[in-house]
Amino acid sequence: MAERGARCIGILTAGGDCPGLNAAIRGVGKAAQALGIEVIGIYDGFRGLVENRTRVLSGDDFSGILATGGTILGTSRDKPHKMRLGSDQVVDMTEAAVENYARLRLDCLVCLGGGGTMKNALQLAQAGGINVLCLPKTIDNDVEGTDISFGYDTALSIATSAIDRLHSTAESHRRVMIVELMGHRTGWLTLGAGLAGGADVILLPEIPYEADAVAESIIARDRRGKRFSILAVAEGAVPKVAEVVAEGEGKKRKKDKKKARPGDEVIPGAAAARVVAALEPLGLETRVTVLGHVQRGGAPTPMDRILATKLGAKAAELLAEGTYGVMVAIRGETCEAVPLAEVAGKLKVVPPNHPLIQAARCIGVSLGDQPSGCHS
Ligand code: F6P
Repeated sequence: MAERGARCIGILTAGGDCPGLNAAIRGVGKAAQALGIEVIGIYDGFRGLVENRTRVLSGDDFSGILATGGTILGTSRDKPHKMRLGSDQVVDMTEAAVENYARLRLDCLVCLGGGGTMKNALQLAQAGGINVLCLPKTIDNDVEGTDISFGYDTALSIATSAIDRLHSTAESHRRVMIVELMGHRTGWLTLGAGLAGGADVILLPEIPYEADAVAESIIARDRRGKRFSILAVAEGAVPKVAEVVAEGEGKKRKKDKKKARPGDEVIPGAAAARVVAALEPLGLETRVTVLGHVQRGGAPTPMDRILATKLGAKAAELLAEGTYGVMVAIRGETCEAVPLAEVAGKLKVVPPNHPLIQAARCIGVSLGDQPSGCHS
């Protein structure tokens, strides 16, 4: 139910940064100010709220930032209820966060972040009795409840052009090029960029791969006279065999199963190295490219600028009418307020029958789990 319309809001950016954050800060800020709402910027995510590091944002602060990367507010992965203090202390700082919220006379805390941020914002709202409103950002595009998050389109474009560039050198040297993309729990970015860049094999966290199936698809290409291959590998992609071994034996193996779960391994290059090792028996020349944080840097694409602006403007409208405890989601062409409790802590994974998965299979891309080709 709508409460009193907001007169003063705090805004923070949390989790990993991504292109479009400044466009969203600008969108919320400009639209909120036009509605008479004061905007206070909070530095470095939830840590800035706990430490009371804030600044009133004026119209000037929202100028000239639409096309810039990163976040003018800074970000962190800190959680108010589990905040690292010093080198080895983790403390529940919810009370301090709530005290500063009250001191600043905020009517709502606007949090720009991904799945982790949604969870932390909800936790803070429930434990501290404060109002929150979230906007979905992440290059991983894995926030539940929204068709798309800002940051994804830019990362997709960066990763696609990287794969495009790998093609010519792969072909010249007749090599197997393994390109590792971000996405430790979900494969939206790898699937999108893999398809857009014409990768021959796409390995996702959602579809554990079999080394033999991957090798077979490379050999089949070779037989057709294609003496090079491009493999797009998500950093969370894992081989099937790890799961099978872990599931096969009792309690003792539970720990191993946990180890083998997609998303647990986030060491850059590790996923690509596993694939190289799996292909070693083929004796082919392989090279690895780890795209890493390049995918999160620089100016947002026009799509991300539009998306972030649209979400920001809708957020201000909701704040003015006193709608809190929601995430502003993209559903088709429109922005909708979705209860935060419905989406926080949930991950939007790539479903096995997603149209992009089907399209990939139909054009002969190997997903590492079965022979290539259309399957219903
Ligand atoms: O923002 C999500 C993400 O891009 C993941 O795909 C990646 O594993 C992670 O961030 C790495 O972030 P950082 O190294 O900044 O903690």
